[in-house]
Amino acid sequence: MTSCKLGWLLVAVLSAVVAVFAYKFTVGEVKPSTDGRMEVQLSTDERNALLLEMRTWLQSAQGVLAAATAGDFAAVASTARASGMAAEAETPASLFRKIPLEMKQLGFDTRQKFDDIAADAEKLKDRQHTITQLSIAMNNCIACHAIYRFSDTGK
Ligand code: HEC
Repeated sequence: MTSCKLGWLLVAVLSAVVAVFAYKFTVGEVKPSTDGRMEVQLSTDERNALLLEMRTWLQSAQGVLAAATAGDFAAVASTARASGMAAEAETPASLFRKIPLEMKQLGFDTRQKFDDIAADAEKLKDRQHTITQLSIAMNNCIACHAIYRFSDTGK
């Protein structure tokens, strides 16, 4: 085989490898669930980490609402930031492969929305604006819960 042919073969093999990774990254590790949703297959630790993240989101949502009602915009900002992009660092890296792209996008968008709530609270100090932002952000909670659930593969 000439070195040119070998080069093309190498390109073809590498392209196939990249395509497989890209596909896995897009679809993630999911199975249809008994309740009609899609079940994301996770290890015990990964599932626990994500459920903890979820409880933090619920806490932030309540915290934003309580602080906005009290007109305490510094508290709105700090409680919203606890669920913002910076907290993403706590998410285990192994999850990026397992979570479908659509779910990742909804997750990142939710974090971004909490960061926007924090930034706007500091800038505008407008209670109605904060509450409207939270209400819109919580549509992401509803959308994702309607499509996905987590299963514990025990590994
Ligand atoms: C990107 C998808 C996604 C988004 C966005 C999302 N969740 Fe979840 N959440 C899930 C999944 C999946 C579960 C597990 C449900 C199951 O297995 O039945 C879950 C579970 C939970 C739980 C249960 C936690 C536990 O300990 O059992 C709470 C509380 C929760 N979510 C709150 C929220 C709130 C509040 C928001 C919005 C601010 C939100 N979630 C946004 C995917 C999401």
